[in-house]
Amino acid sequence: MVKFIQLSDLHIHGSEKEDNVNCRKIMDFIVNKYSNDKQNEKPIILLTGDITDDGKENQYKNAVDILKPLVDNEFKVLATPGNHDYGLAGNIYTEKSQQLFQDYILGELIDIPKAKQQGIKMEDIYPMVTIEGDVLFIGLDSVVGNEDEFLHFASGEVGKPQRKELVNILKTNANSGKKVVVYFHHHPFYRNLFKKIVLEMDDAKKVLRILAGLVDFVCFGHKHVSDIWTAEHNIDWILGSGKTTERNDQYKFQYREVRIDGDNNEVSMITFK
Ligand SMILES: [Fe+2]
Repeated sequence: MVKFIQLSDLHIHGSEKEDNVNCRKIMDFIVNKYSNDKQNEKPIILLTGDITDDGKENQYKNAVDILKPLVDNEFKVLATPGNHDYGLAGNIYTEKSQQLFQDYILGELIDIPKAKQQGIKMEDIYPMVTIEGDVLFIGLDSVVGNEDEFLHFASGEVGKPQRKELVNILKTNANSGKKVVVYFHHHPFYRNLFKKIVLEMDDAKKVLRILAGLVDFVCFGHKHVSDIWTAEHNIDWILGSGKTTERNDQYKFQYREVRIDGDNNEVSMITFK
């Protein structure tokens, strides 16, 4: 059995704003809730981007400080960047912010040895494959594909090199019997023609074609709206997370918890005050 929870769009600031305060509350709740779980039953934490609000160094420092209780309490954390992690207002991507994500989130917080190696860039890290029990987690950087364009209006792209590698990973895994969870930040499909420009990945169709029939879960964030699709695009579960640091209409926090036990998959929503 493998369990994971998805947290997204935390938007941690450089000063102690509401998102920071809320995120600390969420950390307390998670650490408490699972404190009696055996080590191998603790949920894996999926962070699907926009961990920081603008990709500034003081925001990354705060993010490490706020999220540290997870690693201190031996939760395994997996993360992928969002448009806001790479620069101003999520619309301008800078190499500096990209490097800060690598240094602070992947290096300092999650402690991925490769992320700390000299000369290694984000492009060398994603797709990031992590195997936990019978589950293969594949993290994609959905920002990096169009980083050469100065202004993005928040859109993203997985890009050709990652797509190519993704095809190979899925081909290799095809007969392994392992379940597959793919996670990234941007929306993989969006039907509103105008909003599509800012919410959907530029290569969304290509990515979905690669994933169809070969993965069990797709998890993403970005839109700040919680949503769920079952058996669409030939994928069992597509899970869109809301902004975890924002309370819902009932003034409660919420996040999704997923339990994968052989062919029995269970998706539930946890809410708390
Ligand atoms: Fe975003």
